[in-house]
Amino acid sequence: QSIFRGRHFINLEDFTKEEVDTILEVSLDLKKKFAMGEPTPYLLHQSMFLMFFEQSTRTRNSMEAGFAQLGGHAGFLDSSSMQISHGESAKDTAIILSRFGHAIACRYCNWGYGNKYLNEMAKWSSKPVMNLQCDLYHPFQALADLMTMKEKIGDLKRVKISIIWAYAESHKKPISVPVSQVLLFPRYGMDVTLAHPKGWELPDWVIAQAKENAAKYGGSVKVTDNEAEAYAGAHIVIPKNWGNWVNDQTGLAAAGAVAVVDDKLKAHKGWKCTEAKMVAADKNVMYMHALPADRNNEVEDSVIDGPHSIVYDEAENRLHTAKAVMTLLMGGR
Ligand code: CP
Repeated sequence: QSIFRGRHFINLEDFTKEEVDTILEVSLDLKKKFAMGEPTPYLLHQSMFLMFFEQSTRTRNSMEAGFAQLGGHAGFLDSSSMQISHGESAKDTAIILSRFGHAIACRYCNWGYGNKYLNEMAKWSSKPVMNLQCDLYHPFQALADLMTMKEKIGDLKRVKISIIWAYAESHKKPISVPVSQVLLFPRYGMDVTLAHPKGWELPDWVIAQAKENAAKYGGSVKVTDNEAEAYAGAHIVIPKNWGNWVNDQTGLAAAGAVAVVDDKLKAHKGWKCTEAKMVAADKNVMYMHALPADRNNEVEDSVIDGPHSIVYDEAENRLHTAKAVMTLLMGGR
C-alpha cells in the first residue's frame, strides 16, 4: 500500500521531507493537468466531510472545488448546525462521519482546544482526518507557501525569509500560521527570521523544534524584535499586524480578529508592511500573505497590489496542494 494512503494530515512534522517533496510533486502534476483541462478522477464517487467551526474563503473552497475536480463530493458542515452544539463528542462525530464517507476535514482554531479536538477525531476516525487549521498548525497553508516559493525561486537553500508576526501563547489566539511556517521552512535550508514585538513570542518548544529542523537541513532560525532587521536583505517577507480589522467595503469586523481594545495592541500598529520598509529588502523581494489581509492595518495597497506581491499565486496553490494531499491520503493503492 502507498505510504500515504489512510494517514491523517494534522501537522507537516508528521511527514518526512521526502514525503513533503512527493506531495509537492503531485501538486505540480495536478496543477499542470488542471491548466490543460485534463480530467483527474482519482477519487471518483468518494465522499468527505468538511467541518468548520470558523469562517473560511480559501480553505473551504480549495477543498470543495478540489475534491469535485478529483471526482468526489464534499459535504460542508457548519459545526453550529451539528449536534456538536448539543454537546456531541469528537469521538462520536468522528466514528459516524468516517462510516458515512472516505475522509473528514476540520477547522477548529479555538485556543487550547483545536489541536486536541483534531487529534481526538483522528484517534477514532476510521478514515483520514485533515487539519484545515487549528490553534497550533495550518499545514495546508504552509504547504501552499512552500510550493509557491519553490516555483518562483527553485532551490530555497540560504533564501532569507522573514515571518514578521506571531501571537504569543499567552494571548490565547491561534498561532497556527507562523508555527507551521517556522517549522517547515528551515527543513528546506531557508534562513528564517521571525520578527515580532517583545511580548509576542511563540512558545519555546516551537522555536526549539524549528532550530532542530534548521540544524538537520542546513537552514537557520533567528528571532528578533527588530522589524528593520527582518526586512534587511530579505528575499521573501510575510508580514502581518495586530490591528483592528474592519473591512472598508462591508463595514464588517473580521471574525476572530483582534480588536484594538488595549494599549498593548495599539502600540504595535506601526508593524505594517509599507513600501518604505520594502526598500530595505532584496531588490527582487517577494511579499506573501496567507490572506485574508487587512489592507488598513497590515499592508499598504501599493505593496499587496504591487510588483513584489505573489499573494494570489500563493492562494491559488491552496487548490493544487489540497488536491495532492487528498489524492495521496484517499487514493492510490
Ligand atoms: N489562508 C486561509 O486559511 O484562508 P481562509 O481563512 O479564507 O480559509
